[in-house]
Amino acid sequence: RTILLLNGPNLNLLGTREPEIYGRETLADVEALARSTAQSLGFELTAVQSNHEGVLLDAIHEARTTAAGIVINPGAFTHTSIALADAISGVELPAIEVHISNVHKREAFRHHSYISPVASSIIIGAGVNGYRLAVEQMAHLLGK
Ligand code: DQA
Repeated sequence: RTILLLNGPNLNLLGTREPEIYGRETLADVEALARSTAQSLGFELTAVQSNHEGVLLDAIHEARTTAAGIVINPGAFTHTSIALADAISGVELPAIEVHISNVHKREAFRHHSYISPVASSIIIGAGVNGYRLAVEQMAHLLGK
C-alpha cells in the first residue's frame, strides 16, 4: 500500500528558503526521510511537490485509486485554499497535515487553516521530523 506525500508551493526551496524558520534540509532530504519511514513500516511512498494548486488537486484525485492515505504540507495554500480542502473531503482518504514551522507563533494570517477541519491529524512545529511523525501516524491509522 502507498502513502502519498504532497508538498505545496515554495517547499521546493527547502534548505535555502528562510533556513532560520524551515531548517537546512532539502525537499529531497524530506522525501527520503518520509520514504524510509514508510518503507520501515511496510508501506510505499509517492512524493509530489508542486507550486500549482491544480497539480496538487489532480494528485489528490489520482490518490483515490493509487494511495491509502495522504500526508500533506500545503504551504501557503493552507491559508487560502477551499479547493484543496474540498478535494481531501472528496476522495475520502485519511489526510495528515504537516507544518514544519509552528504557524501559531507566526503572523496571524498563518493561524487559520482550511485543511485542518478535513485532516485526521495535524503536526505543527516539529521541523522536518514532522514528516516522519506524520508517516508513522498514517501507518498507524492504516493499521500497521
Ligand atoms: C508551512 C507554513 C506556511 O504558513 C507557509 O506558507 C509555508 C510552510 C510550514 O511548513 O511551516 O509555505 O506550511
